[in-house]
Amino acid sequence: MHLDRRRFVQGTGAALLAGLAPTFTGVARAAAPFAHPPLPYAEAALVPTISERTVRLHYGVHHAGYFRNLNRLVEGTDFADMGLEDVVRKTAGRAEHSGVFNNAGQAWNHIVYWEQMTPGGPSAPGGDLARMIDRDFGGLADFRAAFLKQATGVFGSGWAWLVLEEGKLALMGTQNADNPLAHGKATLLGIDVWEHAYYLDYESRRGAHVTAVLEKLVNWDVVAGRLAAK
Ligand SMILES: [Fe+2]
Repeated sequence: MHLDRRRFVQGTGAALLAGLAPTFTGVARAAAPFAHPPLPYAEAALVPTISERTVRLHYGVHHAGYFRNLNRLVEGTDFADMGLEDVVRKTAGRAEHSGVFNNAGQAWNHIVYWEQMTPGGPSAPGGDLARMIDRDFGGLADFRAAFLKQATGVFGSGWAWLVLEEGKLALMGTQNADNPLAHGKATLLGIDVWEHAYYLDYESRRGAHVTAVLEKLVNWDVVAGRLAAK
């Protein structure tokens, strides 16, 4: 019997992430407990910074594939009864569960990624977030430069993150599916630096892609919402 056990909250900020908890507590295990959430906008919405073709492949093939693999791997296991964030936390650093971790991590990372680029938000931070960027990085320009250095410094596939750590903003780079959640840190912003995120549009120019995303696509209302939810 198939049970639709996951219901995603569609919205902005922390709401989507909060919606990753199970909503059904019955005894039967679902065949596919983790649902790939809808892209929060049209595939062409990020043009010209990210092409429609890149979004179609990135969301529709890569991100969908992580969910498909995850559901196959967790079928019949205790992981099938957990929320996605708990799966990431409980499999982090455990070699025997590396397949589950890699797919759960990438499933979660890309939710963070798509959500924070929802069109229509401010292109620069305001309020508490702006004050914290001034305090912890010396201003928006210095933050962008430091983030770019972090992102271009990730060796191979991975991610660059803005996190909240003991009340302060900090940067973090991770490889492959690894993420701040696996290290007990609060995620505010995550930019994908796997080649599949930028190669069709920017070829080898990872830095140009990251700069463009930071300056033109990040919806700082979403980032501020994550900060407020911590
Ligand atoms: Fe990706």
